[in-house]
Amino acid sequence: MGGSTKGVLIAIEGIDAVGKRTQSSLLNSWLRSKSFTTSAMSFPDYGTAIGQEVKRFLLGTRNYSPEVRHMLFAANRWEKKAELEAMLLGVDVVIVNRYSESNLAYGTSNGLPLPWLVNLEEGLPKSDLVLVLDASPGVVYRRRGLNKDRYERNVGLQERTRNAYLMLAKEFGWKVVDASQGIEATSSALNSEVSAVLAANGRTV
Ligand code: TMP
Repeated sequence: MGGSTKGVLIAIEGIDAVGKRTQSSLLNSWLRSKSFTTSAMSFPDYGTAIGQEVKRFLLGTRNYSPEVRHMLFAANRWEKKAELEAMLLGVDVVIVNRYSESNLAYGTSNGLPLPWLVNLEEGLPKSDLVLVLDASPGVVYRRRGLNKDRYERNVGLQERTRNAYLMLAKEFGWKVVDASQGIEATSSALNSEVSAVLAANGRTV
């Protein structure tokens, strides 16, 4: 893995049900087939105390203001900071299925100021590569359905969030990948982006 001691952190992002889980898992298998060591994490992590609280407001059994909701999403990452840092020291690549970038996209879509949201993430490990899976909520809805929790049921929020991802991608250099194409085509587009970042980090695929 070249001379670097820290693993590369790759965030898989996008609106609900756009295929992040499938693509994270395909990317993981592909990297392993190329002899990279990998670990994976997913946010929200519903297994922690704060994650349980996140689950409650997503299911509507608890009501919080947007500020509190997005502070809890960020706090959920802070709960996992030490674990994530240890992972990054132990493997070549850590894949996160949603990370800080979710809070910037969903938070701004919920009317919160970007600098305030960015500040909540300050001090957490930074993503080396952000891959935004992009498809319209209409396509996603026809493919998978969006009806699990209060964020998923809100098609207006999904539309605003898709636009937020596209704007933030321009601002922060996130890579947007068309996820309305088939699973395989999306996966190979992701692999190319990852190869480029690994090469830039001194690791040849
Ligand atoms: P999930 O469906 O991927 O488990 O995520 C639940 C919802 O939480 C999803 O609509 C996106 C939202 N979310 C945020 O708004 N901020 C965050 O930081 C994270 C991780 C998720």
